[in-house]
Amino acid sequence: MSVLDIHVLGSPVLRQETTPVTEITPDIQRLIDDMFETMYAAKGIGLAAPQVGRRERLSVIDVDDNRFVIINPEIGVADGKQKGEEGCLSIPEIYGDVERAMHVLVRATDREGNPFEVDATDLLARCVQHEIDHLHGRLFIDYLSLVKRRAALAKWEKLRQGERSFIRRLNPQEAVSRQHRDEEL
Ligand code: NI
Repeated sequence: MSVLDIHVLGSPVLRQETTPVTEITPDIQRLIDDMFETMYAAKGIGLAAPQVGRRERLSVIDVDDNRFVIINPEIGVADGKQKGEEGCLSIPEIYGDVERAMHVLVRATDREGNPFEVDATDLLARCVQHEIDHLHGRLFIDYLSLVKRRAALAKWEKLRQGERSFIRRLNPQEAVSRQHRDEEL
């Protein structure tokens, strides 16, 4: 397994629609394993394929020891509301309050190609919605008010200090020194 580079805000792949996975190949399974390793290295709780520059419709999630991959996920039921702070491994150190459904029922395919359902509430539901958004080119900052989004983007540009690359190469020190790390998805 290997830790993959993470694409950050500005990389076009983050805004593109993904392609449904039609067959579980060794390549897909390796991608899933590498994405788990990358997510743990980055101290995140979720990671979607576009964040590692891939177009396959799949995301990995690990919330409160609930670890699974969702391939071709579809939200069947969404009800209730919750508002809470979100971050994203592709927009490090930027956070904002996002309203999400409190409960979702999601149909997906697992690593072996079997269909299954995720019945998620609270933080897990938030994470699942965030990761499914990634698979359709949406980012949490899209939900912020205009004023808050502008402030977040200004902070992001400041943090980048003129950096022109949209690839984030993880190193262990960076991962452990940052605060809020468990809230990035
Ligand atoms: Ni994210």
